[in-house]
Amino acid sequence: MKIDILTLFPESFAPFKESIISRAQKAGTIEINIINIREFSRDKHKKCDDAPFGGGAGMLMSVQPIFDAVKSVLTNKSKVVFPSPAGKVYNNKMAKELAEFEHLIFICGHYEGIDERLIKIFDAEEISIGDYVLTGGEIPSMVIIDSLLRFVPNVLKDGSLEEESFSNGLLEYPQFTRPQVFEGMRVPEVLLSGNHAEIKKWRKQESLKKTKRNRPDLLKEDRNEN
Ligand SMILES: C[S@@+](CC[C@H](N)C(=O)[O-])C[C@H]1O[C@@H](n2cnc3c(N)ncnc32)[C@H](O)[C@@H]1O
Repeated sequence: MKIDILTLFPESFAPFKESIISRAQKAGTIEINIINIREFSRDKHKKCDDAPFGGGAGMLMSVQPIFDAVKSVLTNKSKVVFPSPAGKVYNNKMAKELAEFEHLIFICGHYEGIDERLIKIFDAEEISIGDYVLTGGEIPSMVIIDSLLRFVPNVLKDGSLEEESFSNGLLEYPQFTRPQVFEGMRVPEVLLSGNHAEIKKWRKQESLKKTKRNRPDLLKEDRNEN
């Protein structure tokens, strides 16, 4: 999979130089390119913002640099994503669907966002990472990209996805590592028993308990998002 990220703040993507995402790039499993939108500005001062028609506080990103930046990487296999608080709220199912594309282009908004016509022209998928507003699209793009890449074959070790939160519609069960007693708290006895059937049963029960407590909405019958 190839991902092009269009941003005014390329340095924000330092986290992709670390850990699993970095290894997947080095192995050639994925390709991530960070493209500076400012380099596409035809303004003599490389200006990339403009006032919104109709007035109001704040500026919008200029249309032309984004249009040219998208055009420079767009092919007939590309899917354009625009992270936006006004988009559909992101979830695991959307991550899996995005992971199927050969090429993704992310437009990172800033200031008050981008001109609506860009969304129409590139048939961009507007995706929100939650009901709050961040200062820019860089963190949302990283959230979406990090989570979808986990579904791209060979990015994670085999089996890593099978018992994660949301994989079976529930949150993950509690996990423990050494020491067996920490701050006076013991690891549940069943996990030390070596009885795999009992461990499986305990994990299912605990998974259900945690889901009921933290995310009862996941247990509603009409919900089928994972
Ligand atoms: C300050 S926000 C603009 C908010 C916009 N004026 C609105 O009210 O919907 C600047 C940029 O941050 C990104 N952003 C902010 N919150 C986000 C969220 N919850 N999900 C995805 N992207 C977000 C978007 O790219 C957005 O264009």
